[in-house]
Amino acid sequence: MAQLVYRTAQIIDAQLYFDWANDPDTRRQSFNSNPISLETHTAWFTRKLTDANALLLVFFDEMEQAVGQVRFERAPVADMPDEIIIGISVDASQRGKGMATQLIQQGCAACREQWGMVTIHAYIKANNRASMRAFERAGFVLSGESGKFDTPSLLYINSQ
Ligand SMILES: CC(C)(COP(=O)(O)OP(=O)(O)OC[C@H]1O[C@@H](n2cnc3c(N)ncnc32)[C@H](O)[C@@H]1OP(=O)(O)O)[C@@H](O)C(=O)NCCC(=O)NCCS
Repeated sequence: MAQLVYRTAQIIDAQLYFDWANDPDTRRQSFNSNPISLETHTAWFTRKLTDANALLLVFFDEMEQAVGQVRFERAPVADMPDEIIIGISVDASQRGKGMATQLIQQGCAACREQWGMVTIHAYIKANNRASMRAFERAGFVLSGESGKFDTPSLLYINSQ
């Protein structure tokens, strides 16, 4: 498997993220499946780039092609350590090559460089076999069913 490199997202990536966000499979597998307007996206993306509780990483292959993204969001939970939630998407043209596992592993390492030895949560819809496999291969363990979002999901956990 080719080595992937990543950097934090920048404003020049706005269109790329917009296209990825509106990918039909990505919308279907997200907890808010409505299409996203460019206006909504631009406001959201601009805010996330300067949000200290968000870490947006964009990955490139050896041809310098953008192949996917991993995002971490940190949110406070009452009387508990902050919850850190990971999200991922791989460019539709690059799926099925085993890249997702690498994005998750490299992303989690970067997340821990930023925020310390944290536990990371992934919420996955039960029909998303590819995502479940990718997270399992990256060392995530099924914790149980979750009702955190409106749609039922499975919670996978990674603690190092
Ligand atoms: C989920 C996603 C990131 C997986 O990326 P990918 O690069 O295609 O995944 P990989 O090639 O690393 O494959 C991961 C595993 O899923 C399997 N897989 C891939 N596509 C599959 C499919 N359509 N159905 C079932 N399994 C599939 C692979 O065989 C592999 O399993 P294995 O290790 O047992 O062989 C990608 O499909 C995607 O971006 N989907 C839309 C967004 C999304 O669902 N994000 C996750 C939300 S929780």
